[in-house]
This record gives sequence, structure tokens and C-alpha cells, in this order.
Amino acid sequence: MDEDADHSNHADHSSAGDRAEDWDRRYTDGGHTLWSGEANGALVAGIAHLNPGAALDVGCGEGADAIWLAAQGWQVTAVDISAVAVDRARELATTAGVSVRWICADVPSEPLPTGPFDLVSVKYSAIRHTPR
Ligand SMILES: C[S@@+](CC[C@H](N)C(=O)[O-])C[C@H]1O[C@@H](n2cnc3c(N)ncnc32)[C@H](O)[C@@H]1O
Repeated sequence: MDEDADHSNHADHSSAGDRAEDWDRRYTDGGHTLWSGEANGALVAGIAHLNPGAALDVGCGEGADAIWLAAQGWQVTAVDISAVAVDRARELATTAGVSVRWICADVPSEPLPTGPFDLVSVKYSAIRHTPR
């Protein structure tokens, strides 16, 4: 299994509430998974007509979309600012028996993984928009 988790140092360019430690706290508060574990319905519907290729999941959280894509045959790279979420996602992928490249990084302060990608999925509109 490819577990290429890159726990980069986080540049602190984010606004309050969006920093890595804030997201880590959201993921640890409550002591259980934050999201449903189900792939996003819009993603499932939106790629129904596509052949699997290389996918980038930005803001992957606990990895439900990335794991689902990998199970459909996609080669998935998944990025999230929260190390807690990425660690949780990696465990869930192991349980599911799929391979995903997990990266812990602050987008767009840190460079995105090198493509090309056939699919880029961003499920968090608050991530700052830049030309990159
Ligand atoms: C609404 S959650 C989406 C989780 C997942 N995609 C899902 O649908 O279950 C947004 C995710 O974006 C991540 N995030 C927020 N700011 C980020 C940033 N600057 N870089 C990378 N990930 C970020 C958060 O840690 C969180 O996991």
C-alpha cells in the first residue's frame, strides 16, 4: 500500500478558524469521526460517466471521497490541512483495502501535488482561491 503521507510544516497564512490546529481540534472534539464516511453524492453522480484516471481530492477530511474513488479504480492523491483527519483517513483506507497517496498540507500556501490530474475535487469553498 502506498502511504506517502507528507506531514509538511504548516505556513500560518490562514485566517482564524482555518488554521491546522483549529481543524485538528474540530476533528478531535467529540472523539469520533466528524463526517458520515459516505462519498459525497455530487461527486458520485458527477463522475459516473468518466473512466478512472488520476484524481486529486483537496480538503479530503477523513477520506470518504478519496477512498470511494480509489475503490472505483482511480489513482488518488488526497490533501488536507489536518494531520488528525489525514491519519484517520489513512486508517480507514487500510481497513477498506485501497491505496491512496495522503498528503497533509495547507492549500494553497503549500504547493499542490504535481499532476496531471483527470479529476480535481474540492469540497471546501472556504479554501482561498488563487491563480495556483
Ligand atoms: C467540509 S470539510 C470536507 C471533508 C471531506 N471532503 C468530506 O466531504 O467529508 C473541509 C476540509 O477542508 C480541510 N481544509 C480547510 N482548510 C484547508 C486548507 N487550507 N488546506 C487543505 N485543507 C483544508 C479541513 O481540514 C476539512 O477536512
